[in-house]
Amino acid sequence: MLSDRKAGLPFGVDRERDQALCEQVEALLSQMTLEEKIGQMNQVAGSRDTTGAPANTDIEADVRAGRVGSVFNAFGVEFTRELQQQTIEHSRLGIPLLFGYDIIHGFRTIFPIPLGQAASWHLEGIERAARIMAEEGAAAGVHWTFAPMVDISRDPRWGRVMEGAGEDVLLTSRIARAQVRGIQGADPGATDTLAACVKHYAAYGAAEAGREYNTVDMSEWRLREHYLPPFLAALDEGCASVMTAFNTLNAIPATCHPLLLDQILRREWGFKGMVVTDYTAVMELECHGVAEDASEATRKSVNAGVDMDMQSGYFVETLSELVQGGQVDEARIDEAVRRILWLKAALGLLDDPYRYADTEREAQCLLSEPHRRAAREQAAESMVLLKNDGHVLPLMDQCQKVALIGPLGNTQRLLGSWRGNGDHDDTVTLREGIANRLGEDAVILCAQGASNQIGDTDTAGIEDALEVVRQADVVVLALGEDEDYADEAASRADIGLPGAQLELARRVLAEAGDTPVATVLFNGRPMDLTELDAMAPALLEAWWPGTEAGNAVADVLFGDVNPSGRLPMSFPVSVGQVPIYYNAFNTGRPKGVDPKYASQYLDIPNAPLYPFGFGLSYTTFDYGPIEMACTEIASEDTLEVRLTVTNTGERAGIEVVQLYLQDVSASVVRPIRELKDFQRLSLAPGDSECVTFQITPDMRHFLNAELDSVQEPGLFRVQIGHCSESGEEIEFRVV
Ligand code: BGC
Repeated sequence: MLSDRKAGLPFGVDRERDQALCEQVEALLSQMTLEEKIGQMNQVAGSRDTTGAPANTDIEADVRAGRVGSVFNAFGVEFTRELQQQTIEHSRLGIPLLFGYDIIHGFRTIFPIPLGQAASWHLEGIERAARIMAEEGAAAGVHWTFAPMVDISRDPRWGRVMEGAGEDVLLTSRIARAQVRGIQGADPGATDTLAACVKHYAAYGAAEAGREYNTVDMSEWRLREHYLPPFLAALDEGCASVMTAFNTLNAIPATCHPLLLDQILRREWGFKGMVVTDYTAVMELECHGVAEDASEATRKSVNAGVDMDMQSGYFVETLSELVQGGQVDEARIDEAVRRILWLKAALGLLDDPYRYADTEREAQCLLSEPHRRAAREQAAESMVLLKNDGHVLPLMDQCQKVALIGPLGNTQRLLGSWRGNGDHDDTVTLREGIANRLGEDAVILCAQGASNQIGDTDTAGIEDALEVVRQADVVVLALGEDEDYADEAASRADIGLPGAQLELARRVLAEAGDTPVATVLFNGRPMDLTELDAMAPALLEAWWPGTEAGNAVADVLFGDVNPSGRLPMSFPVSVGQVPIYYNAFNTGRPKGVDPKYASQYLDIPNAPLYPFGFGLSYTTFDYGPIEMACTEIASEDTLEVRLTVTNTGERAGIEVVQLYLQDVSASVVRPIRELKDFQRLSLAPGDSECVTFQITPDMRHFLNAELDSVQEPGLFRVQIGHCSESGEEIEFRVV
């Protein structure tokens, strides 16, 4: 249950202000006709960006007639001011519009994709990025953003894994909180913050076969244990609104799901904020097959608890008749409108509809130098060093002839999808980044070699690439997907390198001989890297790094930044392992007991190529033995465990120390391990630090068969290490 202060509205800034806002809203509500109320529940797309099938014609006429409460894909001070003026000056009550926009990893200064940000495990850095995103969005007239996206996903075929924090509940929940804090600040009503919207509620990341928009069917146990906690975390941090998901969940579309929208969100959690649908999700109830027409789709979604319809236009079309016919209660309409007006009031729009419209601020804020610096820092710390045989990396400073090979070496398409108003022209290519780092005397020889487009298997460019390799004293191979391959509506069945890139890598690596080759990967999902891993000595996962891409990659390649990223999702050996996740069950016949009758594949291992939490560094860390105060505790006790971590290498570095827990035997099966805490340590060469973790009763709780959160006595195993598959294990007992 959320506390009053955190239940979304009116943000709990202070009691007096809350009281005043409520009175303001009630006064307005009492003057509104039914049509005007329904107008507030209608959200339409503006013309500045496209994030779904276009549908609107003349939104200005609707705005003037009071038939629109919110416009999304609307940004830019001039554009939003003009639209706001239409409603203020021409509609009967002049209720300001709420402008929404997807600011997912940056408005104009683009930060790494969220999956990359998650790989930093750096919550303060993630909060700072969200803060800057919000500052830029607010400076461009936006009030509300559709972030954070907290969909847990165990399936890298699904293109939207790029938008979330990966496969783990704890990491995703902590990141969700950091993002909400960053977006909303201490007061979402301040003009440099935005209202947040946690999405997509719920279980969207579990689409069958990783195919976009596909069916989701899962037990309520799994839903509540794994998929819902990040939503609750975001709301508990004060997130202002919730967006419904496109998918069905156990045969009911999320957009009219009574269990999700009424029972859990309102009754159990006590959320008082606004619920908006995803793009045309009300209309899609017809395609799903739970509504025959617009009227039935409207009735089902409104009665389930939806407050605002994004882009279907069905509420304006049918809701009035439904209320008059008694199929939707007018009190339900009042409740929805009250929530929408609360949000507008809390943002200060009812007092001053133009308070976010400041052209001077807009000009100064977007893409400022400090913002670019923050983007570069975050991009560098999101990168994960997957392999570094023979210490290929960091590259020597004195290398003067670099062969930069591959389709991603000399391109500005490094922002990733959901890039907001980011501009490719602002983006630093890898070629520029390396040139900036090495200075004027260095020679960078570029050859694309192969394309990264699906189906383009042309190998004609490989010979040129080999020619370049022969001239160089170091080779950088820049491979990956296209930035729009990990996106909405971008599922892939084959998660390998598209086009002829593997062939290019084979030939370049063979040609290079003793010349060092470092491979940099740009992609928005875990990929199948098995063959590349077998032949390439050094692999750096750079995700989609954003505006400062090239500089940030160069920072890591040349050792100015020691990589510290850790994978937020398992990288499979083959797509045949998918869905794959580290916190799985053991099964009754785990691998390694009987050679034949085991839960295993005949042709590939069970373990992923790179596990959750994995990432190398240019230095090495040593973990001392785990010490714990006692090995038996009572259920209400917190157990302190500690160990010493030492930087045993020659460079300063950051180590992400991860604590996993297993409840060895319980009334329901518990995963073989679950991340319960982590700490990011910064250690100079030779330095040690004693790390202390508190294993609280909370961490030992789980949902039992009755879906009650319980702790049960018995044996627990603690594992502390640098990834999910390493580290000493030690046991304790709850009595
Ligand atoms: C996406 C949402 C997004 C919305 C508005 C939809 O297609 O699923 O994540 O917020 O469009 O752009």
